[in-house]
Amino acid sequence: MFTYFLRCGAGRLRSLSYGQRNAAKVAPVPTGTAVAIPTKEDFRARIHTVVKTFTPGTPVSSLAELVGREASLRELLNIVASPGEHAFIASARGTGKTSLVSCFLDCASGAAPQITCVRTNCENSSFKAIWSKVLRRILARLGMASTQFDKVDISDLDVEFELVSVKTPLLIVLDDFDEILNHTELAQFATLMKVVSDNAMDISFIMVGSPGAATLFKRTYILIQRHLRIITLNRLQPVKAQEILVSRWRRCGLEIMDDAMSLAVELSCGLPYYCQVIGKYAALLALSQNRSVITVADVAGASSHMDEHILLMSAISSKTGLEQT
Ligand SMILES: Nc1ncnc2c1ncn2[C@@H]1O[C@H](COP(=O)(O)OP(=O)(O)OP(=O)(O)O)[C@@H](O)[C@H]1O
Ligand SMILES: [Mg+2]
Repeated sequence: MFTYFLRCGAGRLRSLSYGQRNAAKVAPVPTGTAVAIPTKEDFRARIHTVVKTFTPGTPVSSLAELVGREASLRELLNIVASPGEHAFIASARGTGKTSLVSCFLDCASGAAPQITCVRTNCENSSFKAIWSKVLRRILARLGMASTQFDKVDISDLDVEFELVSVKTPLLIVLDDFDEILNHTELAQFATLMKVVSDNAMDISFIMVGSPGAATLFKRTYILIQRHLRIITLNRLQPVKAQEILVSRWRRCGLEIMDDAMSLAVELSCGLPYYCQVIGKYAALLALSQNRSVITVADVAGASSHMDEHILLMSAISSKTGLEQT
């Protein structure tokens, strides 16, 4: 690491002013002339920290880990707090929809324990199958029996009846709502939402899916247009993408060269998923060469774990100077 560092003398180490409170739990690499050779255990511990810190495969579920989504959280809170209104969180894959909603539910259940929060993935299931699942979860949360939902053959009226009989406020998240393609099923969801709003039932729906699905749902089912608000999640500003990377690398006891940081931010295209991918694999590459400083070569190596499509997109936007939205 030291030799490399001297070779890159011209490159200035990025000053990592934030994330100090979360400083690495692993032993820092000594900065004196004598470099201690890390033991096998040190090496394993550092890899473990990287794998736990960068999680491209799982959504973020705590507010402290959610970067750059304050405005969307506020918007979501406003909708949920408005009787008769429901939200549709819309964005491209990997932008952080499930993360946003998970953090929101985490806060809601902490701040208002009287609200029963349920989240389910739609997975191209039918209206009946989804409601059978959701109602069973609601009743389980409330400690009530649920034998009648073991049959998938539950009617629209059954759903309405069961929702009316639940006495606590409900927050129901239908994730991957864009997986439901059948018009009859979608019309049933729209009708139910309308009934919930018109009867001033204390129920808020949050749907999650692609922007296309959100617009189509709102346009097609005119009866819910007034009740449905779409929250679009944009890609993160470069400064926020940098924050995801820097705070997490810092936690792993790693530092980064300036040019490596700009490349990482550029390649991520403002998509949190790619921040996590680049962060993880660049860190593992640096560690595999016994370094605590991440270089351009590590970031370039990490990009082999990204889709060609995204790499192309970042190349085009850096050439044309296109802003991330
Ligand atoms: N605001 C954020 N800050 C830090 N990491 C984030 C943020 N949002 C998302 N991530 C990370 O990005 C990845 C994708 O997030 P998530 O699963 O929430 O996206 P999604 O939009 O729901 O994707 P999909 O459409 O495929 O379901 C996860 O690794 C998650 O940890
Ligand atoms: Mg998701």
